[in-house]
Amino acid sequence: MTTKNLFILMLFIAFSIQLKAQENVFEIKITKPKKEIPIQSNMYGVFFEDINFAADGGLYAELVKNRSFEFLNSPTMGWLTYGKVDVRTEDAPFERNPHYLRLNNTGLLTGTGIINEGFRGIGLKKDESYNLSFYARNIDSKEGKLRVELISSGMDIIAKDDIAVDSDEWQKYTLTLTPLQTDAHSRLRIDLRSFGAIDIEHVSLFPEKTFKGRKNGMRQDLAQALADLDPGIFRFPGGCIIEGNSLATRYQWKNSVGVVENRPINENRWNYEFQHRFTPDYFQSYGLGFFEYFQLCEDLGADALPVVNCGIACQYATEEVAEDLTPYIQDALDLIEFANGPVDSKWGKVRAEMGHPESYDLKMIGIGNEQWGEDFPEHLKQFIDAINARYPDMLVIGSSGPSADGERFDYLWSKMKELDADLVDEHYYKDPEWFLSNAGRYDNYSRKGPKVFAGEYACHDYPEKKNSFYSALCEAAFMTGLERNADVVHLATYAPLFAHVDAWQWKPDMIWFDNLRSVKSANYYVQQLYSLNKGTEALQVKLNKENVIGQNGLYASAVIDENKNQLIIKVANTSKESRTVDFDFSKLKQEVKSGEQILLKADLEVENTLDKPNLIVPKKQSIETSRNKLNVVLKPESFSVFILN
Ligand code: AHR
Repeated sequence: MTTKNLFILMLFIAFSIQLKAQENVFEIKITKPKKEIPIQSNMYGVFFEDINFAADGGLYAELVKNRSFEFLNSPTMGWLTYGKVDVRTEDAPFERNPHYLRLNNTGLLTGTGIINEGFRGIGLKKDESYNLSFYARNIDSKEGKLRVELISSGMDIIAKDDIAVDSDEWQKYTLTLTPLQTDAHSRLRIDLRSFGAIDIEHVSLFPEKTFKGRKNGMRQDLAQALADLDPGIFRFPGGCIIEGNSLATRYQWKNSVGVVENRPINENRWNYEFQHRFTPDYFQSYGLGFFEYFQLCEDLGADALPVVNCGIACQYATEEVAEDLTPYIQDALDLIEFANGPVDSKWGKVRAEMGHPESYDLKMIGIGNEQWGEDFPEHLKQFIDAINARYPDMLVIGSSGPSADGERFDYLWSKMKELDADLVDEHYYKDPEWFLSNAGRYDNYSRKGPKVFAGEYACHDYPEKKNSFYSALCEAAFMTGLERNADVVHLATYAPLFAHVDAWQWKPDMIWFDNLRSVKSANYYVQQLYSLNKGTEALQVKLNKENVIGQNGLYASAVIDENKNQLIIKVANTSKESRTVDFDFSKLKQEVKSGEQILLKADLEVENTLDKPNLIVPKKQSIETSRNKLNVVLKPESFSVFILN
């Protein structure tokens, strides 16, 4: 080849490379929309339901299972009894939890006692303080003594104390135990050490350290994981459990307030809902009740969003509908009074007596969960009328039922518009494909009428439904659509929130835990990245004049944070190749000097576990920016948040 030909060939190669490079650069323009799109300051939140041992055995820090001996038809479930132990109800100290145990002497000094197994064991930490309490009376008027011991899974006694029970009147006894070992599967033993009989009731063991040091409080690591999300709202207490499998077993908030010892137990429908995950020892103690929920919201800085039954039990289980809605509506009105009413109002007084005279400043209430058909809108209308008449500023949240689309969904949405509900709760537990193809779901939603509350959603990566990186990536891609449409989507909460690794019924879930440890899923980090970088105003983000909803595997949205003076770009690259993107924001007035990328990236099937909690965590790095443009190479199958100051 001559030198001239070689030169021409090299020129040709260089030109082709440049052409190829240009072809592969995606120019994404970021501009202000014609009409401002404000982002709700409480847009991203959490949805809490007592499923997967989320409350009893989870967030609620109580370590004793069946502490009141009230598990339905099984008053000693969770307790191993030995010697002569009777279940009794006569002359009980707490009329709504009437069962207690009588420990009778068998003639042997150590022949009678009870052992609690905890929630799949009792998690104890070496050298930390645990507060034990119980109610007891000595019915024989002899010198009474109980020995209390914490026993490790290896049978070591890791803490013990003796306590004299001398009174023949019911009295509360308390002591602090400090274990010598850390053990996730310990047990609590209470052994009769005297010759008479002793009655015992409401045996409770709490870590001294709870979230914010609250009495009857929350497990520190789990509540802290919520705090780290900086949630804007906190929806509670369900989900299906507010509906109940019958109206009698629906969640009734009034049973969950007042002295903890006298809150009547309820079944937990997740106990038997899924036969392949049958959990016969799952009940609702209501120890984590509405006062504690409101307190937790305040501690987290989140707006409370309580949901009440609408006079219809779970339609998957029964056709039971309330004949008279009056008590249901009254419950909703009383709940608002409990949260906000003055201390001299009936329910405001209850709140004040529980320790919170100030209002909880409740702003919204959900009516019903996953109903469908004609009864729901008829009921909802009566709730809306009653609530509006008494509390005109209260936002009322209706529902579009359990499906993400279809006839029932369309019918309910049309009814929600007719009734002028403030928000409509939508639920979608769907596969990855659905999440990716629904990133534009809200682009054409009506801008008039009710706003959307994406109240329960999660990407189900079949068949295993792991908290895989892929599921999180699909959610991240989908959520660009929530952000872009923040004028329609006012609130969003992933579901479910918590799951005990040894006692779950439903997956995937955002946070997994055992008795001592917890792990944040990749899905958690996606929620966190949106929540901590939500901004104040959504921008228009276009690739070839179209919203970026999957072209070449890209999904993008952007916001301005006026408080922090930041431009924040979120982009998911779901393709198997890296993508070079030029974000052009020259039309914005935003002065950009420095930048940071937060990257979430892993192999698609990977998930964080208790043993390997950091396989997928956001990683930060600084990046180069120019005033008008950001040029980046996005890794294959990755989610990035660019924060430009
Ligand atoms: O999040 C688990 C369940 O899913 C909720 O209880 C219910 O609302 C939905 O069906």
